[in-house]
Amino acid sequence: MADYDFDVLVIGSGPGGYVAAIRAAQLGLKTGCVESRETLGGTCLNVGCIPSKAMLHASEFYDHAANGMMAKMGIKVTPELDLDTMHGQRKDAVKQLTGGIEFLFKKNKVEWIKGHAAFTAADTVQVGDRSVRAKNIVIATGSSVTPLPGVEIDQKVVVDSTGALELPKVPEQMVVIGGGVIGLELGSVWRRLGAKVTVVEFLDQILPGFDGEVRKESNKILKKQGLEFKLSTKVTGVTVKGDKATLTVEPAAGGAAETIEADTVLVSIGRKPNTDGLALDKAGLGTNQRGQIEIDHDFRTSVPGIWAIGDVVPGPMLAHKAEDEGIAVAENIAGQHGIVNHDVIPSVVYTWPEIAGVGLTEEAAKERGEVKVGKFPMLANSRAKTNHEPDGFVKVIADAKTDRVLGVWCIASVAGTMIAQAAQAMEFGATSEDIAYTCHAHPTHSEAIKEAAMAVTGKPIHV
Ligand code: FAD
Ligand code: NAI
Repeated sequence: MADYDFDVLVIGSGPGGYVAAIRAAQLGLKTGCVESRETLGGTCLNVGCIPSKAMLHASEFYDHAANGMMAKMGIKVTPELDLDTMHGQRKDAVKQLTGGIEFLFKKNKVEWIKGHAAFTAADTVQVGDRSVRAKNIVIATGSSVTPLPGVEIDQKVVVDSTGALELPKVPEQMVVIGGGVIGLELGSVWRRLGAKVTVVEFLDQILPGFDGEVRKESNKILKKQGLEFKLSTKVTGVTVKGDKATLTVEPAAGGAAETIEADTVLVSIGRKPNTDGLALDKAGLGTNQRGQIEIDHDFRTSVPGIWAIGDVVPGPMLAHKAEDEGIAVAENIAGQHGIVNHDVIPSVVYTWPEIAGVGLTEEAAKERGEVKVGKFPMLANSRAKTNHEPDGFVKVIADAKTDRVLGVWCIASVAGTMIAQAAQAMEFGATSEDIAYTCHAHPTHSEAIKEAAMAVTGKPIHV
């Protein structure tokens, strides 16, 4: 240790990096974390999960007040939007949570090295005028927005997700390029607050990677709420004049172009790993064709002593995946056996209702062999029905021979919370029968998972 400044140096303090740093310190390793942002917490806490959920939560209340949901329950209100206060509570949540990480760093004696890290050797990085040498270096530099060639993000008229979280006024016409998670969540926020929102998606359906039936049903529900979709459509140009944009779009398969006017354009066509400026070559490292750092099962890169986790490595770009990898990498560095089961990572889209899934889609499961599928509509779930939340369903996909659960998908107001039990069941290798014969509290939305599991063998009670 004599020559080293740290046992573990983590680059990046997002949910991957800060969790790795805290876990390493908990395991008795001398740990530092380099972060170039003003605050800790990475994309997730500063400009991602947390601020987007603050705006989704607040705008959901507004929508329920404005669009008849509250009136249905005997509460007559005409809401008045105070956007500054709504933004204020978003900023407050970010401030408190990023400050919380700073507190946890102090508590666990993790040193925050402020600045941008670049490798000078496999065990050394330069941060400002400080050279830092560490026995183990964990790259957790995360990801940033994928640009759309030829479209300049000015954060006024043409924005990325960060700009879309902070719009100073509700746009009249917003065009979202990309019907993925960010487009649907932030498109929903501004639609609820009064914008006319059009989502332009290159593929023939929204939410790539999700179960086919879930993608179709989500599309239907969001359309009913007022989002307009142009599927199988590509944007070929965006021109900005003053405070207005004109988008040229054409069918993905080719054909006549048309134009759409907008006062805000959100570019949300995916994210790319952050490796620029890291000088990976100085460490003897490179990236794959997708710009990711390749790792083995233990999160080791090809260079001994250098590890990588989170959005910068292959796999879904999700905060909880990064966090679990953060714990596992620290445990592996400490000589323990850190493992992440990448087959059981839930995904949640925080629209209303929420859309969630874990494991295989029905399409992917069928490619692997014979399956049995059980479905249960939220309309038949007593709690959802009572709460005026009829949309959605739960679907359990099980292996036809072994009955082992391969995937669970839900559209429900609290699908993000419901999916946790499915993930846990799958982690324990549950069969659909195991879920069906587990006692679920009544009346809860989660009973729909039990009933969908019962439907795998054709025995639901309430349909
Ligand atoms: P990041 O959180 O990106 O953190 C990396 C950090 O490294 C950054 O702070 C960066 O400044 C720093 N860094 C990079 N390079 C250097 C360097 N050379 N030197 C020093 N510091 C450096 N995921 C979910 O699971 N649920 C959600 O609800 C969700 N919502 C999202 C909403 C939005 C709008 C966005 C954009 C993303 C959302 N995500 C969500 C994705 C989630 O934010 C990421 O998957 C997660 O933050 C990845 O964590 P990470 O630790 O790998 O990297
Ligand atoms: P995404 O990959 O989810 O969706 C991008 C969409 O854009 C895709 O549907 C794709 O087909 C489409 N697209 C690509 N190029 C296009 C073009 N030229 N024209 C029209 N459509 C085009 O990416 P998104 O929404 O930017 O989110 C990035 C990542 O952030 C996600 O992969 C997700 O992992 C993470 N995230 C997670 C959230 C959550 O867990 N709730 C919330 C927000 C982001």
